[in-house]
Amino acid sequence: MSLPPGFLDELRSRTSLSQVVGRKVIWDNRKSNQGKGDMWAPCPFHQEKTASFHVDDRKGFYYCFGCHAKGDAISFVCETENVDFMEAVEILAREAGMTMPARDPQAAQKADRRGELAGIMEQAVNFFRLSLAQQAAAGARDYLARRGLDGAAQDRFELGYAPEGNALFAHLTGKGIDPQKIIDAGLAARPDDGRAPYDRFRGRITFPIRDPRGRCISFGGRAMDPNARAKYLNGPETELFDKGRNLYWHGPAREAAGKGQPLIVAEGYMDVIALVQAGFGATVAPLGTAVTEDQLRLLWRIADEPVIALDGDKAGLRAAHRVIDLALPMLEAGKSLRFVILPEGQDPDDLIRASGAGAMQKLLDQALPMVQLLWSRETEGQVFDSPERRAALDKALRDKILTIRDPSIRSHYGQAIKDMRWHLFNPRRTGFQGGGGQARRWQAPGTPQASTKSSLLAASDDRVQEHLREAVILAALICTPDLIEEVGHQLERMECRDPDHDAMRAALLELHAGGDARAVVADRVGAEALENLMRIPHVTICPAVRRPGDVEQARLTLAEAFGKLAALRGLDAEIAEAEEELSGMADEAVTWRLREAAEARNRALRSQQEDKATYEKGPNGLLIDRDERSAFDALLNKITYTKPRR
Ligand code: UTP
Ligand code: MN
Repeated sequence: MSLPPGFLDELRSRTSLSQVVGRKVIWDNRKSNQGKGDMWAPCPFHQEKTASFHVDDRKGFYYCFGCHAKGDAISFVCETENVDFMEAVEILAREAGMTMPARDPQAAQKADRRGELAGIMEQAVNFFRLSLAQQAAAGARDYLARRGLDGAAQDRFELGYAPEGNALFAHLTGKGIDPQKIIDAGLAARPDDGRAPYDRFRGRITFPIRDPRGRCISFGGRAMDPNARAKYLNGPETELFDKGRNLYWHGPAREAAGKGQPLIVAEGYMDVIALVQAGFGATVAPLGTAVTEDQLRLLWRIADEPVIALDGDKAGLRAAHRVIDLALPMLEAGKSLRFVILPEGQDPDDLIRASGAGAMQKLLDQALPMVQLLWSRETEGQVFDSPERRAALDKALRDKILTIRDPSIRSHYGQAIKDMRWHLFNPRRTGFQGGGGQARRWQAPGTPQASTKSSLLAASDDRVQEHLREAVILAALICTPDLIEEVGHQLERMECRDPDHDAMRAALLELHAGGDARAVVADRVGAEALENLMRIPHVTICPAVRRPGDVEQARLTLAEAFGKLAALRGLDAEIAEAEEELSGMADEAVTWRLREAAEARNRALRSQQEDKATYEKGPNGLLIDRDERSAFDALLNKITYTKPRR
């Protein structure tokens, strides 16, 4: 259905966002200013005690400073009620007293026809379910019992049995249903030779496939005879059923995901059933085909990071690689995939039966990010002992990364791959052994976990530099919160990779004038995280921290740190871009460009104030400037490394 021009504008202007949101949250009355339409509450999209969720009633937008959820009334209804755009519009229009535009007659006719076919499907669901209780289905009931599906499970998934012969066709025509419509619904087929139509599903266990609104659109049918021609048979494409645009268990999974369950994508019907029964309610499966682009889009509407759980065999891994190739060009900020590869020869159903739900949970907790799988696909079991081989690896990875359309994600992938390549080719420095063997878990470079101070300083990496700048900024503001308002817009735009930093940043942005910054930050991230921040050598020697409350000093520190951060991140993008062009450009040109960019950064990193600080020794005895130099040298090394040899 299409909406007339201006309909949405009117709906938005007639809708009070604070009223819509007010049904789901409890306002923080101290922080809110109703007169100005400036409302604050604990965020409905993530767990928190403080009020980081902001509604601007006049503009009709919300934003959470904690989890970055944002949108308008329509998206709020979509997210909280788990409905699609049109459904949300309908809900809001009803509340605002607006009549939804009438559907055009052709569309209405089509909808009627689909409704009619869906009605026939529903009768088939009932017929199959009743058949499962009949004498002739004793074998089917035994089979289900052997697979651990009791009566309750059979009801929950509406499992049924399609009898031998043409029982369904006879049943439906007996009720006066037009044979052609039974065929159009995909339940029967007419042979070419003009004989009578026959049932598509015969002697099989049936699984109804429903669309997210709950209408039955097709069936899957499993043969019980191990020698059957096809183990699973799915309904044909019909006016109701488009295999590539639907998912098994879509509706219930969407609801469970809305309640916070991780969205899992399994390979087949029985895997979904086993996972749902084991408590993983937000599980779906594609319908007898490989995952399609449309299905990925559906998945990302439900969750930001669906987990693809594939069978532990060659086919499963191949399927995972196909999903990666499909997903790379489609990646957008915040949307990604993770992968669980099951133990050799097992699917989720097998694993849960053999080792229980806990074993599955454990695998989910260790799900691999997509970049890791991409990396292991290109490197697993290979030896890179010659420049030619390394160049071939570089090219293969670069070609993959180039398919990512989103420039920012492309540059992050470039960086992550660069980091992994660094480890692979410099095993002595890092203790890594390169190449083959098991896919190892990859630690995001931006989040050094509980690292000691010295290792944080010793790690020669851009990300560490960024991390330190963020730390200085946060610490300076904690010590001199009067400046928060002044740098608020820069603080808002500072994207922290470290979740602790991000939480501190959000806490500072919310601080009331005169509030206790230390207390608020400690409350958000815990006293220990705050202490860790204040103990970082770069932070302890920073003048703004040594002289808390000295506004002038803090202002200088902040200006410099923000400047350096911008320089670092700007260079990041520059390197990524230059690397992308490596394959097509002359070496000198690339080298020149990188050197220019690097020098610009060098200048930004060495300002007067830092030069003074340089002469101070950090608590671990290292000269701070030397550290920055080695980070920089390492960077240049990497750059030289990525040059293709000719
Ligand atoms: P699998 O062969 O992995 O089956 O197919 P399964 O899910 O483990 O099923 P059980 O445990 O043996 O009963 C995975 C999915 O591939 C499709 C089905 O959607 C199935 O769920 N498939 C498989 C077919 O469409 N046709 C087939 O012949 C086999
Ligand atoms: Mn199975």
